[in-house]
Amino acid sequence: MTPVPDATPDATGADTPVVLRATGLSVVHRTRSGPLHAVSGVDVELRERHTLALVGESGSGKSSIAKALLRLPPPTTGTVTLDGTDLAALAPRALRALRPRMQMVFQDPVSSLNPRRTVRDLVAEPLDAHPDPSVDRAAVVERQLEAVGLPIGLFGDRRPAQLSGGQAQRVAIARALAAEPRVLIADEAVSALDVSAQATVLNLLRRLTEERGLASLFISHDLGVVRAVSDDVAVLHLGRLCEQGPTEEVLAAPAHPYTAALLAAVPEPGRPLGDSGLLPADPPSPLDPPSGCRFRTRCPFADERCAGEVPELREVSPGRTVACHRPLTPPQAAAVDAGAAATPTR
Ligand SMILES: Nc1ncnc2c1ncn2[C@@H]1O[C@H](COP(=O)(O)OP(=O)(O)O)[C@@H](O)[C@H]1O
Ligand code: SF4
Ligand SMILES: [Mg+2]
Repeated sequence: MTPVPDATPDATGADTPVVLRATGLSVVHRTRSGPLHAVSGVDVELRERHTLALVGESGSGKSSIAKALLRLPPPTTGTVTLDGTDLAALAPRALRALRPRMQMVFQDPVSSLNPRRTVRDLVAEPLDAHPDPSVDRAAVVERQLEAVGLPIGLFGDRRPAQLSGGQAQRVAIARALAAEPRVLIADEAVSALDVSAQATVLNLLRRLTEERGLASLFISHDLGVVRAVSDDVAVLHLGRLCEQGPTEEVLAAPAHPYTAALLAAVPEPGRPLGDSGLLPADPPSPLDPPSGCRFRTRCPFADERCAGEVPELREVSPGRTVACHRPLTPPQAAAVDAGAAATPTR
């Protein structure tokens, strides 16, 4: 299959090929209590050598988006293209052939690895799934382990139980790389690790995204790690995107009240979102989301319009979009960042 790169200008003006594009993604889970709207009308663009972070509280729909991108299961509505190919249009066999191009790394590395297999065999699994006589299996395994800082001589014969959490996650990443992916999705991949292992894995993901030309999606509830690893950030609340843009810009001056509240709530890395008392403890149920803006029942700035009209994502500056009828101005956002958000000033 010939890749059909399609390019958008990034903040620096350079053209970076879009590897994966999801448009109008919605995920509705059928539950005994009725349809649960986990994701509603989300667009995602993953570009080569770039990491997009998807951030939001637990239950905001992050994992539902990740699975929909991989068609595990497919989204309820919306299209996903990989290098220009619409995944929904592919016959099952063609989709199976394409699947290795999209790899996922999960939160709990030890349980995602078969405990009976050695590190060497775990990393070789993607190669064994699609045997190619021209590929030197041993050399590929050695190279991928080297890339994640685990020398094969020391680690090749170990089993998952003989690895630390950070080492196991690096094995999971080496295995993902052995499939030669275009897209790497890391779903809470550092959430279970201690701070130093987190730093190692974050640096690794950043470096590998650059070196291997990956298009990475980094999913997290932790703004501290998002800051460390991503080029761009998309903020999700109750299945809808609130705002999106270059990570540094968004975190320095959030334009959406939810982003601002998250930032004020997380002065230190590792602290769960929503812990500051600024946000009412729980988001509303996705079984019965609020009309209009889904953040309005928690927003200090909500007015009538917010109840009646869904705020669409609009561009507020180049590369930055916000879905709010009354986006924060930079001075207001700075005040929020400094901790003055508890009392709304407008
Ligand atoms: N398979 C499922 N069946 C029913 N509800 C689900 C299923 N998966 C997720 N949900 C619900 O969808 C919402 C979003 O979940 P999820 O995508 O896992 O969010 P996150 O990864 O941000 O924590 C939650 O309300 C969750 O309970
Ligand atoms: S649209 Fe209204 S309720 Fe929603 S975040 Fe903006 S001000 Fe708050
Ligand atoms: Mg999740």
